[in-house]
Amino acid sequence: MKKIAVLTSGGDAPGMNTAIRAVVRRGIFKGLDVYGVQNGYKGLIAGDFIPMDFKSVGDILHRGGTILQSTRCDEFRTEEGQKKGIEQLENAGISGLVVIGGDGSFQGATKLNAQGVAAIGIPGTIDNDISGTDYTIGFDTAVNTALDAIDKIRDTASSHERTYVIEVMGRNAGDIALWAGMCAGAESIIIPEAIDDIEDVIDRVQRGAKRGKKHSIIVVAEGVGKGDEIGKVIEERTGFETKVTILGHFQRGGSPSAYDRMMSTQMGAKAVDLLVDGIAGVMVGLRNGQLVHTPFEEALQYKRTLDMSTYDLARSLSI
Ligand code: F6P
Repeated sequence: MKKIAVLTSGGDAPGMNTAIRAVVRRGIFKGLDVYGVQNGYKGLIAGDFIPMDFKSVGDILHRGGTILQSTRCDEFRTEEGQKKGIEQLENAGISGLVVIGGDGSFQGATKLNAQGVAAIGIPGTIDNDISGTDYTIGFDTAVNTALDAIDKIRDTASSHERTYVIEVMGRNAGDIALWAGMCAGAESIIIPEAIDDIEDVIDRVQRGAKRGKKHSIIVVAEGVGKGDEIGKVIEERTGFETKVTILGHFQRGGSPSAYDRMMSTQMGAKAVDLLVDGIAGVMVGLRNGQLVHTPFEEALQYKRTLDMSTYDLARSLSI
């Protein structure tokens, strides 16, 4: 293998730039020519490749977003789209591809791998929702961003004796809500994996008020899809002024945390080392604190499960 490429795909996540830097520099260190693919799979289909040298990834490891841009590309789901992408790689003499993204992105990488392109995945999504790894790049930063926002909302909630329903990201996964909610001491955390009974949520708000609490915080994951509704019911039933704040894409940006920088760097370098060792069709991941690699089919086969003991603990501390 002489030439490899790297792309970012799906929703961006803090740490993607750090991972790009690691792939490029580790690749050069291992004697490879490294290319960046602009705009994810869309750029692959268009043959939008740029040669990357050591300097091209200087001064990016601390920046949010992705210097290669990212897209969600429907055309690449089709055989026709995949064929075009493979032709572009062949024409450029590129035989290895590192895909940084979520499970949708790995569906595409699986198809490429089956057709002779040595593809490796790096889990990059703030949602932390990929099976085959305990961690996805961007999660730690997103949780800290959400937590910072909740702490600030709590200040004003307390001054005005209000209840706040705060919706955080997480399409189908409650990880951000669970971590941010636990660390913020939320009264209730509502996640797709365990939708709390609204009566219980109301109960907790009322019990808190009886104890003299000046505010209540309820964190709800986007995937539950009911932030406004929950806010309305709580206000009607408790009589407490209740506001709803949706944090949204704010959580996707920002400088990656130290943990995200470390994970992105380790996973980026590992992806290159695997390619050099002739291993492909796998996703790099973290399992019990160790870097591992899992075949795409296996990583995509199972729905990732959330550790519910953390959820139970959070509930037991906010009674
Ligand atoms: O997958 C990451 C994520 O931020 C989800 O939490 C969210 O549902 C989705 O992406 C939003 O996607 P988009 O940026 O395309 O609106």
